[in-house]
Amino acid sequence: MAYETIIVEIEDHIALVKLNRPDAMNALNEQVFKELADFLTSAQTNDKVRCIVITGTEKFFAAGADIKMMSELSFVDAFTGDIFSEETAQIMRVRKPIIAAVAGYALGGGCELAMLCDFIIAGDNAKFGQPEVNLGIMAGIGGTQRLTQAVGKAKAMDMNLTGRFMDAEEAERAGLVSRVVPCKKLMEEAMGAAAKIAEKSMITVMAIKESVNKSFEVSLSEGLMYERRVFNSLFATEDQKEGMAAFLEKREPQFRDR
Ligand code: HXC
Repeated sequence: MAYETIIVEIEDHIALVKLNRPDAMNALNEQVFKELADFLTSAQTNDKVRCIVITGTEKFFAAGADIKMMSELSFVDAFTGDIFSEETAQIMRVRKPIIAAVAGYALGGGCELAMLCDFIIAGDNAKFGQPEVNLGIMAGIGGTQRLTQAVGKAKAMDMNLTGRFMDAEEAERAGLVSRVVPCKKLMEEAMGAAAKIAEKSMITVMAIKESVNKSFEVSLSEGLMYERRVFNSLFATEDQKEGMAAFLEKREPQFRDR
C-alpha cells in the first residue's frame, strides 16, 4: 500500500512513522487511520522492525479527528460507519512496542492516538486535550477510558468536561507521559528509547507489553498469575540463557529472539 498521509522510514530496526497532513494540523481522517493500521500490522511480521515511533511535527502531533469530515455525519453514518474502530482495533493488536513522540498539540483523536501507543515521550511544548465537548460531541477512541486509566478520574473529568489542555509538565506529573524533554531533543530521546528496546530480545519485549496491558483487563490476582506464568515461560528461551550468561561474564548480551 502506498502511503500519502504518513511517511515511514525504517532504519536500524526502528520504524519512524510521521503523520503527514500538515495543512490540517495532522487531523485524522479515515485514510490516516487506514494507512497507520496497514503499516503497523505489516510491521508486526517485518523482521526489520523491532520498535515503532509515531510522531508529528514540532508544532502538532495531531489536532484530532478531521472536523470537516465529521461535520457532515448523521447519527446513522456515525453508528453504521463506526469510524476508526476497526483500525484502532488493528493497532491494539500490534505486539511490537510503539512509542508516541509528541510535540505541540495532541488533541481529541490525536491525544487518543498517542494513548493507543505503549508510552508517550513529550516535548516541553506538548499540549494534551479532549476538547470534543466544544464541538457537541465527546471522545470516541479512549479519551474517557484510557485517559482516566492514565491520570485518574479528577483530571479526566476536568479535561473531558471543560475541554482544557494539559501541558507537558502537568501530563508528566499526572502519569500521562513517561518523560518530558526539550522540544528540540524530542526525536533524539524517542529514537534513543526505541534503540534501547530494539536491542532487547523481541520475545521478552512482546511478553512485557502483553503483561502490562493485561493489567488493564483483569483482576490483580489474575494479572499476577498471568505475569508469573509468562515469567516462568521465558526460562525456556535461549535469550534468557544468553542474558544471564552475559551478565555473569560481564559482557553485552547478543539476543537472537529464540
Ligand atoms: C480539521 C483542523 C483540525 C481538525 C485544526 N485544523 N484542527 N481541521 N480537523 N481537528 C485546521 C484548521 O481548520 C486550519 O485550517 C488549520 O488546521 C490550522 O488551525 P488553526 O485553528 O487556524 O490554528 P490555531 O489557531 O493555531 O489553533 C490550533 C488548535 C485549533 C488549537 C489545534 O486548530 C483547534 O482547536 N483545533 C480543533 C481541535 C479539536 O477540537 N479536536 C478534537 C476533534 S474531535 P485552515 O484551512 O483554516 O488553515 C475528535 C473526535 C475523536 O478528535 C473521536 C473519533 C471517533
